[in-house]
Amino acid sequence: MGILVRLANKWVAGIEMEDALIRAEQINKSNVGAILNILGEHYEDRKSVEVTIAEYYMLLDKIKECGLDACISVKPSQCGLMIDEKYCMENIQKLLAKVKEHKGFLWIDMENSEYTDVTIKIYEQCLKSYSFVGLAVQTNLKRTEQDTKRLLKKGGRIRLCKGAYREDVSISYPKRSDTTANYQKIMKVLFEEGDNFAIATHDMMMIEAALSLSKSHNKNFEFQMLQGVRESTVRELAKDGYRVLEYVPYGPRWLAYFLRRLRERPRNVITMFRSLMGG
Ligand code: FDA
Repeated sequence: MGILVRLANKWVAGIEMEDALIRAEQINKSNVGAILNILGEHYEDRKSVEVTIAEYYMLLDKIKECGLDACISVKPSQCGLMIDEKYCMENIQKLLAKVKEHKGFLWIDMENSEYTDVTIKIYEQCLKSYSFVGLAVQTNLKRTEQDTKRLLKKGGRIRLCKGAYREDVSISYPKRSDTTANYQKIMKVLFEEGDNFAIATHDMMMIEAALSLSKSHNKNFEFQMLQGVRESTVRELAKDGYRVLEYVPYGPRWLAYFLRRLRERPRNVITMFRSLMGG
C-alpha cells in the first residue's frame, strides 16, 4: 500500500488538507490556479457527507487565510445525492453561501450518467441564486451538446471534459475519436455562444483548437488540467498569459481516483510497474 501511495502522489496532492494547500501554493508561484477537491464519492450515510461538507468549509477558510488562488470542485455524490436530492442541493447551497463570503468559485463535477439529469437540475437551481458556480459536462455523452446550449442560455459556466465514466453505447460515443470530435464541436459552441468557460483536457489537439478559436472570439476562458498530467504544457500556457488551473485532489480516499486515472491511460500502468521494478 505504501508504494501505491507514493505512486498515487503524481495525481493526488496527499492525504491531508495541508498537502493540497502546499500544492496550491507551489503552483500559484507559476501563476497556475488550483481547483481543490476532497476525494470520496457515493456516500450513502449522512455522517460521511457532513464530515465532507465541514471539511470543505475549513478548506474555504484556509484558502482565504493563505491568500491562495484556488477554488473548490465537489462531487454531488459526496454532498448527499445518493441519500436525497434536496439534501444534496441544500449542502451545495450551504457551500455556495460560504464561497460567496470569500468571493470564490465552486465547480460541480459530473459523475456517471445515472446522475446527469439530477445534477443538471441541482445546478440550474444553484444558478438562480449564485453566479460563481460552474458545471462539468462530458462530450462522450450524446445529450451534452443540447445540455450545454440550454445551460449557456441560463448563464451557466461550463467545464468541458471528455468524460471519465464508461457509459452504455445507447447514450454515449464508444469510440474515443467520436468523443473527441464532439469535444471540438461543443468547444466551438462555447466560443460562439458562451463566456467564462473551462477547457478541461490534456489533448494537445483540443488545446491547439481552443487557442485557435480564442484568436477569432474574444471570450474569457481557462484551461484546466489534472495534477500530474501535462505539467510542462500547464506552465507554458500560464507563461504565455493564459488562465490555467490544476485540479488538485486530496484525502484518504484516493484509491478510486487513482485507479480511474490508470484505467484512462493504460500506458500509466506500464510506467507504474517500471517504477515498481526500479526502472
Ligand atoms: P484523452 O483521454 O484523449 O487524453 C489525451 C492525451 O492526454 C493522452 O493521449 C495523454 O497524452 C494525455 N493524458 C490524458 N490522461 C492522462 C493521464 N491520466 N495520465 C497521463 N497522460 C494523460 N470527468 C468527468 O467525467 N467528470 C468531471 O467532472 C471531470 N472533471 C475534470 C476536471 C478537470 C480539470 C479535468 C482535466 C478532467 C476532468 N474529468 C472529468 C476527466 C475527463 O473527463 C477525462 O477523463 C480526462 O481529462 C482525460 O481526457 P482528455 O481530455 O485529457 O483526453
